[in-house]
Amino acid sequence: MAQAQTHRPVLLAEAVSALAVKADGLYADGTFGRGGHAAAILERLGDRGRLWLVDKDPRAIATAHERFGADARCVIHHGSFAQLRDLAEAEGLLGRFDGILLDLGVSSPQLDEAERGFSFMREGPLDMRMDTSSGMTAKEWLSVASAEEIARVLREYGEERFARRIAQAVVRHRDEDRLPETTRALAELVAEAVPKHERHKHPATRTFQAIRIHLNRELEDLSRFLEGACDLLAPGGRLAVISFHSLEDRMVKRFIQQRSSVGYLPPGVPVAPEGLRPTLQRVGKALRPDEQETRDNPRARSAVLRVAERLA
Ligand SMILES: C[S@@+](CC[C@H](N)C(=O)[O-])C[C@H]1O[C@@H](n2cnc3c(N)ncnc32)[C@H](O)[C@@H]1O
Repeated sequence: MAQAQTHRPVLLAEAVSALAVKADGLYADGTFGRGGHAAAILERLGDRGRLWLVDKDPRAIATAHERFGADARCVIHHGSFAQLRDLAEAEGLLGRFDGILLDLGVSSPQLDEAERGFSFMREGPLDMRMDTSSGMTAKEWLSVASAEEIARVLREYGEERFARRIAQAVVRHRDEDRLPETTRALAELVAEAVPKHERHKHPATRTFQAIRIHLNRELEDLSRFLEGACDLLAPGGRLAVISFHSLEDRMVKRFIQQRSSVGYLPPGVPVAPEGLRPTLQRVGKALRPDEQETRDNPRARSAVLRVAERLA
């Protein structure tokens, strides 16, 4: 089967320009994917610059090694960007990053490779893990989760109106030993369980998105990363986050708002100390792809880029 190995980077020029790359700076790309953004950052880095390349997906990391393994400026880490703060602390690099980029969600190869199980358009095993070296597959989760848990996940992460019906259908199939084994079988189960279909949207779209977000702990990882982000950045360091989902974008927006306001108190600080200053400053407004980019790359459609700068 033909496998797409390419990923067209979204908001490439905008995100890289937002990082205001300094030739000798230290940067992190927390979502390497296939390296579109990383390559553009490296073009701006001199010999003394450094770029950490991080991804949960072993295949993304294999590409990072192939493309940039021989580049002395690159440091490659397999893992979640949620661990960046701990990794940086272990290396004595807290407060030293001049820029961090997150381009959230799934890559085109993840969606296009049937055996990853992310897409109901392609027949594949029910996997949906970004990190195929650990954690539960979608099939394993559906075989143990309660109807309540499934319904909650579909509601919270997919905003699925028919979450209960879908969850009950899954559990019914499970009780009858007919739990779907493949992406298409799950998509059909959902299509049958949903009484009203939205126009221009497959009835399983929300279910697949929700299960993916849940299994990969996408919101938990983002929240953990954001908690440590200010500790990672050097004064003047930039944080650029591209989100594809309103739940993620809301988290990023609130985080930047809170940390840019004088009234924000870090957890555990009950009263604002004299002279407490905001830690971040918002840079520009939220940016979305223009019409041309959305036409050329439909996956860019829902992207939003938010940028902030670490204050001294
Ligand atoms: C949209 S793609 C990034 C594409 C990349 N900017 C490029 O130009 O090729 C998102 C990537 O982030 C990775 N990813 C998602 N959540 C992650 C996390 N918490 N930690 C590390 N990588 C993550 C996915 O495995 C995927 O490869």
